[in-house]
Amino acid sequence: MLTRLPELPVYNVYPVTIVSGRGALVYDGAGNEYLDMYGGHAVTVTGHCHPRVVEAIGEQARSLIFYSNAFDVPHRRALCEKLIELTGGHFAGAFLVNSGAEANEAALTMARLVTRRKKIASVTGGFHGRSLLTLSLSGLDKYRARTAVDGAPLFPHGVILPRNDVETARVVLDASFAAIIVEPVQGLAGCVPLDADYLRALREICDRVGALLVFDEVQCGMGRTGAFLAGEQAGVWPDVATLAKGLGGGFPIGAALATARVAEALKAGDLGTTFGGGPLACAAACANLGALHDEGMIANAAELGAYLAAKMAAIPGVVRVQGRGLLLGAVLDRQASDAAEQLLQQERIIVGTSAVPEVLRIMPPLNLRRDEADRFLAGLTAVLAKGKE
Ligand SMILES: Cc1ncc(COP(=O)(O)O)c(C=O)c1O
Repeated sequence: MLTRLPELPVYNVYPVTIVSGRGALVYDGAGNEYLDMYGGHAVTVTGHCHPRVVEAIGEQARSLIFYSNAFDVPHRRALCEKLIELTGGHFAGAFLVNSGAEANEAALTMARLVTRRKKIASVTGGFHGRSLLTLSLSGLDKYRARTAVDGAPLFPHGVILPRNDVETARVVLDASFAAIIVEPVQGLAGCVPLDADYLRALREICDRVGALLVFDEVQCGMGRTGAFLAGEQAGVWPDVATLAKGLGGGFPIGAALATARVAEALKAGDLGTTFGGGPLACAAACANLGALHDEGMIANAAELGAYLAAKMAAIPGVVRVQGRGLLLGAVLDRQASDAAEQLLQQERIIVGTSAVPEVLRIMPPLNLRRDEADRFLAGLTAVLAKGKE
């Protein structure tokens, strides 16, 4: 018998239909309220349906939904300027795309264009998207294996280095490398910050061998860790930084921010996209960045994140808490997927899991309120008190 499915069976889907959302809350079709500590997959940094984002999308949609990169359109230039301003003028320009994987593909393409070299390094635990190149560079074996043919990843010039191992990086990285790509705080690996000393050593090695340092800030950027870019907390600036998830307030958009050295090596035709940098996405992202800044959400992420981390660590059943700001991994004494299921069914709280079976991933909107954090802490305490299933 032929199977007909409206959607291909590539996701495990929870039995809840989400129809609306405001701030850190979402609602199902029956009007039940859920606390979203998963942030719609680390996307809703300014909360669901922030009024400024909704207004900007509506206004832009009424005047122009789309036009191509061959013409100037409203908000594209403003968005690039805003991103440069928010990163203290470190970057000279931005290339706009639609997703995190595309932003990383663009960053690595830039590295190969600038250096004319083939090899790209990444580190264990890293995740950079689901395109064939980014999967080939994943430091999580399960994902890298998805592109393997006869045991070898599809991209043959990738080298995975052990994370936080300065000595190995010094020995392996040489003038044959175009770039190394790392997440300053690894999200899918369970919210693991890379050592500041390691990031500083990578900067120094890249400068010495002429390779580009690429920070994948798709999950940890946009203020989530308590600074606009997580790399800033180690005092390290990359040659290229990528953003996506939270950039458009839920509207799909990604960006690769590049320094002057990189920008000067690029010419027309080197990169391109149909939809990237379209007017709707840029209008949404400008409004979203405005809200993030004007409403002090980055400071809130730092403060409420520290509060949540300390309180979570004291809950029986939580072994320890890792991560930074509102990108937190709670290492449990049991399977995180069981706890996530119970939180959803019994407490109407949504959380994320990770590539590590015991780690719950907490990545709520950055305007989460203290009473909402307390509601989550009470729910987690109740679920973990019921014992392992
Ligand atoms: C660190 C990181 N990089 C890249 C990606 C890929 O982003 P996208 O799914 O938008 O392609 C993700 C997605 O989870 C991510 O967490």
